[in-house]
Amino acid sequence: MSKITAAITAVGGYVPETVLTNADLEKMVETNDEWIRTRTGIHERRILRETGKANSDLAVPAIQEILTKTGLSPLDIDCIICATVTPDMVFPATANVIADKLGATNAWGYDLSAACSGFLYALTSGASLVESGRYKNVIVVGSEKMSAIIDYSDRNTCIIFGDGAGAVLLQPNTEGNGVLDSILKSDGSGRTYLHMKAGGSLKPASVETVMAKEHFIYQEGKAVFKFAVKGMADVSAELLERNHLTSDDIAWLVPHQANLRIIDATAERMGLSKDKVMVNIQRYGNTTAATIPLCLWEWEKQLKKGDNLVLAAFGGGFTWGAIWIKWAY
Ligand code: UT7
Repeated sequence: MSKITAAITAVGGYVPETVLTNADLEKMVETNDEWIRTRTGIHERRILRETGKANSDLAVPAIQEILTKTGLSPLDIDCIICATVTPDMVFPATANVIADKLGATNAWGYDLSAACSGFLYALTSGASLVESGRYKNVIVVGSEKMSAIIDYSDRNTCIIFGDGAGAVLLQPNTEGNGVLDSILKSDGSGRTYLHMKAGGSLKPASVETVMAKEHFIYQEGKAVFKFAVKGMADVSAELLERNHLTSDDIAWLVPHQANLRIIDATAERMGLSKDKVMVNIQRYGNTTAATIPLCLWEWEKQLKKGDNLVLAAFGGGFTWGAIWIKWAY
């Protein structure tokens, strides 16, 4: 019997309707459209504004799109892995809530926290479940309501992040397509540069932590930028090298959308021209675990069976990595 690989066989996505433009941010903090565009590449981002709506309300429509496209029933889903740093609640897992809202009563699932590399970690985990032969329909969703943890008076962070969700269906493949290799890395000493100070067991929520605005993202942007440029480019180059791939073999680079300058540096290091790089940061900003699947969602129609894709990310943790996929449809 030929080896089972895990292939992406459908993609879904969802972004909330409300658009937060650079012009809107100019009215909220001391910034300007020109600075944001030239330093990050972002023009606008989407925000889930309605009270009572959470991360799962972004993930569910993304997954429902997959069910509509494939004709699968929610009951066919074996497992849901939700990559996120903005779960509906600390517990239970958002994957549980998503399964409930979908009516996926046969599914088990869990949340995976790896910040901007969350989708890569979750895709590798989901692929292993399919490759093992035990599961046939695994949903991997990257979903974030970043606006819930952004201080909209902090210009260092509020200009960057947005909300959204992207999901993929993983199914067994015997044609040699799908997730073919992945290199994932982490370095916990990087946590000092990018984290949320309170709300965990180290510093539980209190009146003091709320007053000190410690439930928002804290980021030392310049330091993270330096690690990100090197980390994402190095791991992508390593992935090509160990699979004896050259830039000519690669149809698409699917990079985490944190900063256009980081994306450009990675593409340059891989020797890829701009027309082979998926970029939608201008419209959605940095949606953390959702950036990569949202790219796949928007480019799905342009992808061809057999295309080699490199997915690459760097983010909080630090976590980073790259995945080689041979597109299956
Ligand atoms: O996705 C997870 C991982 N995260 C990342 O990959 C993010 C990596 N970091 C970045 O993308 C960039 O560091 C930022 C976009 C966050 C910041 O860009 P930068 O070029 O590193 O700016 P900076 O923080 O070094 O600030 C440069 C200048 C400073 O002014 P002075 O000190 O040179 O006078 C800042 O005060 O720009 C100023 N500045 C701003 N000006 C207008 C900082 N933020 C803003 C702003 N608007 N929003």
